[in-house]
Amino acid sequence: MKKKIAILISGRGSNMKTIIKNVEDSILKELCEVMVVFSNKKDAPGLEIAKSLGISTKVIESKGKKRSTYNKLLFDYLDELNPDYIILAGYMKIISSDVVQRFRNRIINIHPADTALHQGLHGYEWAFENKMESTKITVHFVDEELDTGKVIAKREVDISDCGTIEEVEQKGLKVEHQFYSECLKKILTTEHTESTENG
Ligand code: GRF
Repeated sequence: MKKKIAILISGRGSNMKTIIKNVEDSILKELCEVMVVFSNKKDAPGLEIAKSLGISTKVIESKGKKRSTYNKLLFDYLDELNPDYIILAGYMKIISSDVVQRFRNRIINIHPADTALHQGLHGYEWAFENKMESTKITVHFVDEELDTGKVIAKREVDISDCGTIEEVEQKGLKVEHQFYSECLKKILTTEHTESTENG
């Protein structure tokens, strides 16, 4: 059975776009379907990309709302939607603990740095400013804290030849796009196999 995924974004949506494409005709085909692309920002450029690819979109604006109000609206929406997995792809809000509890081990995030070394924003800037030879992109489950959830996999990117932050980001994003879908495939396939074995 195909798993149902919801993708959460706040901006550009380049990871989202690759995931949708890979569901359409590549490594995620037959494994899952994208129920919706959700954004907390109505002007997130990724929303238009999702629509152009024939994917439903949903916006609940976080701006101008109390955090608790927004969190409750999002919880109610996701609870009703009931996806198998929630995929964060540049979603810039902290996931509230009630959503984490409701979807334990089913919320996945990609972080542009090693979560053991750097949490929060600006992962590529952090690697560049610290003159690192390489950085490790991390795909992990989301728990109640920021970027502390169980690691699914890390992939090292050599950035020693990058002279600007733009080059670091460009090189890193290219890896993210491939890597994120590979990790999703691994998760979706593992669960798939387990549920088959259990009948
Ligand atoms: C990526 O670098 C991702 O690792 C981080 O936010 C950025 C999102 O980029 N969590 P995009 O919106 O997928 O282009």
